[in-house]
Amino acid sequence: MAEHYNFIGGEWVASSSGRLFPSINPAHKNHVLGYFQASVEADVKAAVDAAEEAFPRWSETPPPVRGEILFKIALRLEEKKESLARTMTMEMGKVLTEARGDVQEAIDTFKYMAGEGRRLFGHTTTSELRDKFAMTVRRPIGVAAVITPWNFPIAIPGWKMAAALAAGDTVVFKPASDTPLCATELVKTMAEAGLPPGVVNLVTGSGSEVGLPLVRNRKVRIVSFTGSRDTGEEILRQAGVKKVGLELGGKNPIIIMADANLQLAVDGCIWGGFGTSGQRCTAASRIIVHRDIYQNFIRYFLERASRLRVGDGLDSTVDMGPIVNENQLKKIHSYTEIGISEGAKLSLGGNILRGGHYDEGFYYPPTIFENVKSDMRIAQDEIFGPVVSVIRVDSFDEAIEVANDTRYGLSSSIYTNDIRTAFKAIEKLEAGITYVNAPTIGAESHLPFGGVKETGNGVREGGIHGIEEFTEVKTVYIDYSGRLQRAQIDTSYG
Ligand code: UN1
Repeated sequence: MAEHYNFIGGEWVASSSGRLFPSINPAHKNHVLGYFQASVEADVKAAVDAAEEAFPRWSETPPPVRGEILFKIALRLEEKKESLARTMTMEMGKVLTEARGDVQEAIDTFKYMAGEGRRLFGHTTTSELRDKFAMTVRRPIGVAAVITPWNFPIAIPGWKMAAALAAGDTVVFKPASDTPLCATELVKTMAEAGLPPGVVNLVTGSGSEVGLPLVRNRKVRIVSFTGSRDTGEEILRQAGVKKVGLELGGKNPIIIMADANLQLAVDGCIWGGFGTSGQRCTAASRIIVHRDIYQNFIRYFLERASRLRVGDGLDSTVDMGPIVNENQLKKIHSYTEIGISEGAKLSLGGNILRGGHYDEGFYYPPTIFENVKSDMRIAQDEIFGPVVSVIRVDSFDEAIEVANDTRYGLSSSIYTNDIRTAFKAIEKLEAGITYVNAPTIGAESHLPFGGVKETGNGVREGGIHGIEEFTEVKTVYIDYSGRLQRAQIDTSYG
């Protein structure tokens, strides 16, 4: 069985711990995809040192030249798209069509960021003084820690690393422990495209042994993290004085108004609620339905959801793959039990799937609760599984109130054919992203991605916002008057 290594300073090396951990296929739990380094603080230190050493040269490389390498990475990823997608399906379970989309999202980002090499725009502006010029330039930050989740194991590291590299930062990448093979394949592809040694370093291992020392390391100047709210909060506590970008949870609502195209809305709820088995931070976990169309909606929604086929994501007839691991499976099921004990009505699913091929993996069916009240835990906590709460409302105002009744604010959606209702919702929904007549998932790589409230700390990824995350702004004043000029004092209007 293949043993995989950390990538530090351009070399594939073993951890000083001498320990390994397996990566397991959630569709067939006896299928081990490989063994990975269970790294420790000494490995983190070596990786950060390598990144720091590579930083001067990389940051001084002309950005268009950096962009060329990013473009080559995009092309290599395109060549390997199918094999990377298959690896992803085997490692974390999402169905193959979605895995291809995940790789595509990284390809798109690397292409976009390749172009950034010829932009990295700053501003020029005026000065209040004569013979004085003012502008801003973007500067790299330094060593970036990239800490990523398992649910988009190529796309999310891609968003972060492409932006960091375009910006001139060097990277230490700590992937989720459920998807070290995807991470290894991604880094291998990046190295093959000609990335100089030390510019990207990979350290696999746990949050406590790798993530924490990485976040605390003073040579790391920015931490970019996507994952759970609790871990995000801990990172803020541990990071000290450095930039931190957080993309945390969601409890994303779809509102369906009485005038909506019902068929379209149900299509959106199926895809938004059960795509990636609900394991997206953008998943539509609350569906808020106007009472006038409630009966029609729920009948059609239950009928469609009950027909979804659950199984191995490599099987092209399957709609929904397994849950990533046993702990997540148990957590999801515990929420079903919580929902029942809170008095919600379990209308579909709600049991760990057993028998036949289900026993080989971690499978949960599409699960739908009705009669959900907004203050129930199933309507408040991020479950990260195929569990959808349906909430009935009497009016648009009540729908907005329920939609906003959450600590999170990532994605949101409304189905309506009334332009005024749509615009009102865009104004009122407390979320970083609002979709009209489309579900809560499916963000495109060149648009800002991120959320309000406890979903994050104001940082956005994607497109130009990714560059903002991974650069500092320097303000430059050039006085060509040849004498001392004092702002606010030597002005002609004073
Ligand atoms: C995530 O779930 O962490 O918009 C990211 C989407 C995807 C990205 C999801 N493009 O659903």
